[in-house]
Amino acid sequence: MTESLSEQKDLVQILFEQQFQRSSAIVCHAPGRVNLIGDHTDYNDGFVLPAAINYGTTIAASQREDNVVRVYAHDCDQQTCEFALSEIVFDEQMMWSNYVRGTLQALMKKHPDIKGANLVVTGNVPQGAGLSSSASFEIAILKAFTDLYQLTLDGVNAALIGQQAENNFVGCNCGIMDQLISAMGQQGHAMLLDCRDLSFEDAPIPDDLTLFIVNSNVKRGLVDSEYNLRREQCEAVASHFGVTALRDVTLAQLNAAKEQIEPVLFQRARHVISENERAVNTLTALKNNDMPTISAAMKASHISLRDDFEVTTKEMDGLVEMIDDVIGDKGGVRMTGGGFGGCVVALVPTELVAQVEHVVNNKYESRYALKPSIYICTARQGAFR
Ligand code: GLA
Repeated sequence: MTESLSEQKDLVQILFEQQFQRSSAIVCHAPGRVNLIGDHTDYNDGFVLPAAINYGTTIAASQREDNVVRVYAHDCDQQTCEFALSEIVFDEQMMWSNYVRGTLQALMKKHPDIKGANLVVTGNVPQGAGLSSSASFEIAILKAFTDLYQLTLDGVNAALIGQQAENNFVGCNCGIMDQLISAMGQQGHAMLLDCRDLSFEDAPIPDDLTLFIVNSNVKRGLVDSEYNLRREQCEAVASHFGVTALRDVTLAQLNAAKEQIEPVLFQRARHVISENERAVNTLTALKNNDMPTISAAMKASHISLRDDFEVTTKEMDGLVEMIDDVIGDKGGVRMTGGGFGGCVVALVPTELVAQVEHVVNNKYESRYALKPSIYICTARQGAFR
């Protein structure tokens, strides 16, 4: 599943004709994402620095006269789901369809007049790898309905609707990062997002660096429950300080209150507060192409996610170590996304890419009995930009 975007677009149109015996009215695409730095900060009203990537979800669609939505998902065992917009319920069998159901239920709160649609979906974001296959699916659905029904929906509101689908329908209390970058990413750039006021600033990825992602292929377990637990722990510390979110607590305040806070909660908060600072500093460092600062920030981020937030696995730690041994402070490497398995991200000087690839391919499997998957990425435009 490594088709280019134009191949994906051709594919959905051919599949649409096969499924519905006519051409689609529109074709749209929403990218997945990789987060360079700032993990588990978004739901603390903090800062994140993700980039949209050249893996995503592509949809071909046409309007319908009735209020039925029919979706053929080419990569989900070629299954088809069908439901009425007036009767959206959770589907225990076809779990993937809940992203469509939840997204449209949330969309209709703002745009109650939409009608049904026929859709064909294909995607090449590896699922469950921490590269936001689900956010890219939600944003692609929203872009399809926006185009079909000429809705006045901008990228920020689309992101909020996608997040609502996750929070209220799918059951993951995720933050806003994944949907916002899928909607608003900028080609060749990462983006510092302020998850409190939803403002953002583009950060150029230096030309001589390659966005290098490795999936540890560790099956992610208990992701939602552990994720939701982390969120509750952060909220507990925020309420200890009587503030809305950990964004409002400084490291000095946290350290001063150390004796009154449970050790695990203290660690969780220390990660979030220090990670916010690293994300903001990395924006400046990217603008100045200041690699030693980026490198140090990514390294500290990984350590903090490993030791304080406890969301890495030994395989992810191993990958980070192997890559770091090659790139040193000429590049940066860390786990990315929610954790508990999934991917590591590296900014690798282009002349070292082959060497990093060689080391990962040679060492990872023999050490952990798992095959790594390597994705050499470029930063792409979001669906609503
Ligand atoms: C998942 C969530 C995001 C974010 C990251 C961790 O990807 O969907 O909202 O919290 O984890 O940074």
